[in-house]
Amino acid sequence: MTKSISRNKNKTLFLCALLQGTSAGTENKKSIGIFDSGIGGLSVLKEIIKIIPEYDFIYLGDSARSPYGTRSFETVYHYTLECVQKLFSMNCDLVILACNTASAKALRNIQQLDLPKIAPGKRVLGVIRPTTELAGKHTKTKHIGVLGTSGTVASDSYKIELEHFYPGIKVFQQACPMWVPIVENNEVNSPATDFYVKKYLKELFSKSKKIDTIILGCTHYPLLLNKIRKYAPKNVKIISQGPIVALSLADYLQRHPEIEKKLGKGNNVAFFTTDSTESFDKLAKIFFGRKVSSKHLAL
Ligand code: DGL
Repeated sequence: MTKSISRNKNKTLFLCALLQGTSAGTENKKSIGIFDSGIGGLSVLKEIIKIIPEYDFIYLGDSARSPYGTRSFETVYHYTLECVQKLFSMNCDLVILACNTASAKALRNIQQLDLPKIAPGKRVLGVIRPTTELAGKHTKTKHIGVLGTSGTVASDSYKIELEHFYPGIKVFQQACPMWVPIVENNEVNSPATDFYVKKYLKELFSKSKKIDTIILGCTHYPLLLNKIRKYAPKNVKIISQGPIVALSLADYLQRHPEIEKKLGKGNNVAFFTTDSTESFDKLAKIFFGRKVSSKHLAL
C-alpha cells in the first residue's frame, strides 16, 4: 500500500516535471544543463553519459541560430546568455557550454559579470580550459594545431591558454567555417566533406610541418573524425574534447559536493531544440547513437 502511494507520487512528480519542460526525476533535484549552438554538443554529452550516467541532464541546442562560429562576439554572447538563462529557468544550477565558440566568446563575461548579478549560486563551465590542460602533455614537437570555428580562432583562446599553461609551445590555428554546416546538414559522407577536410588540414600543415597534436576545437568536429583521420598525417595525435570534458566534469562534481548533492540521479536526459524537432531528432540519432525525442523550445 505505502509502496503504491509512493510510486503514484513519484509518477505525479515525474509528469509535473515533464509538463514543466524538464525530465528531472526527483523532487527539487537539479539537472545538469548541456548547451551547444546545435547538435555538436551531443559529442560531449555522449561521453559524459558514459562515465556519469546517473545524473539528470537537459540538452539545449540552439539550432535555429546555428552556426555561432561566424557571428560577432556580441551576438554569440547575447545568444549564449539567453540559452544559459533558459536552462537556469529549467532547474539547472550547473550549465556546461559544450560549445567552443560560446566558451571562447561568452564564458568569461557570463562568469564574471552576469552570474554575480543574476544567479550567484549557479555555475557555468566551458570546454576550452580542460582541453588545453591535457593537450599540452601530448606534444613532443611542441607544435600544436587547433582546428576551430572562425570565432574560436579569432578569439585566440586556445593560443592564450596553451601558451599560459605550457610556455614554449607553439600554437597554429586553422578556421574551418564549412565543417559545422556540413555536420548540421548531415553531409558528413558526401564528397564535399572530403574536399573541405583536405583543404583545411592542408592549410593547417602549411603553417608548420612539425605539428604532432591537433585539437578538435569545436564540438561538431568529432562527427567528422573518420575523415579527419583519413587526411591527417598518420603520426599526428587527434584530440577530441568529449572524453576530456566528461572526466573534468566528474572531477568537478567530486570537488564540489555542495553542487553535486543537489543533482537529481534519475538517469534522465531531455533534449530541447530551438528549431525543428524532426531534423534535430534525425541528426541526433545518427550522432548520439540512440533514438532522441526532442521538444521545441521558444526563447
Ligand atoms: N559546436 C560549436 C563549437 O564547439 C559551435 C559551432 C557553430 O555553431 O559554429 O564551437
